[in-house]
Amino acid sequence: MDELRIRKAAETDLQDIIRLWKRNIRTINTASDIADLFYPFKKYYLVAVYTDADTANNGRPEGRGRERIIGFVGGAIRSGHGHISGIAMDREYRMNGMGKRLLKMVDAEFLADGFEQITLEVRKSNRNAIRFYKKNGYKKSYDIKGYYADGEDAIVYEKKI
Ligand SMILES: CC(C)(COP(=O)(O)OP(=O)(O)OC[C@H]1O[C@@H](n2cnc3c(N)ncnc32)[C@H](O)[C@@H]1OP(=O)(O)O)[C@@H](O)C(=O)NCCC(=O)NCCS
Repeated sequence: MDELRIRKAAETDLQDIIRLWKRNIRTINTASDIADLFYPFKKYYLVAVYTDADTANNGRPEGRGRERIIGFVGGAIRSGHGHISGIAMDREYRMNGMGKRLLKMVDAEFLADGFEQITLEVRKSNRNAIRFYKKNGYKKSYDIKGYYADGEDAIVYEKKI
């Protein structure tokens, strides 16, 4: 049976996270920028993993198929609160509730470490992400003019968990 699940990211997942980040999020972050965000806050990185039914029992005695990483969320601690540095699902797996599950699981990590406030920045034009964050309890806080390298403004959203 096809399987979709979420697990903590391992160091060996970094290349997949970089691929997902660059493919799905409009950014000038290089692979090394993403690695610099990842290593200090690895415990706040989670990956969504798809296991294909066709490969699930393909001669593997343990009965688990080949994993494909199809989404991630990356958190950080910034100025004493939780922060979402990036979240993305590969296009064909969106609108299936996995983004919500990723946010919930990273919330639980923040909460376990005593952080009850979470912030994030989103491009003003990213209406789908804004709708997603609002649906998951984030409230608009303030704008940052010209935050992105191409001059676009960011909106800061925050949530208390
Ligand atoms: C934002 C993102 C991670 C959401 O992941 P997801 O797995 O699709 O989200 P879920 O299935 O949990 O939630 C779906 C909800 O999000 C919002 N949403 C997400 N994508 C949407 C779209 N294309 N159109 C309309 N609403 C959208 C809606 O509120 C939707 O629920 P609704 O239709 O009932 O209102 C995903 O759309 C994505 O990877 N986007 C590209 C990367 C990005 O912009 N990341 C954020 C900036 S860092």
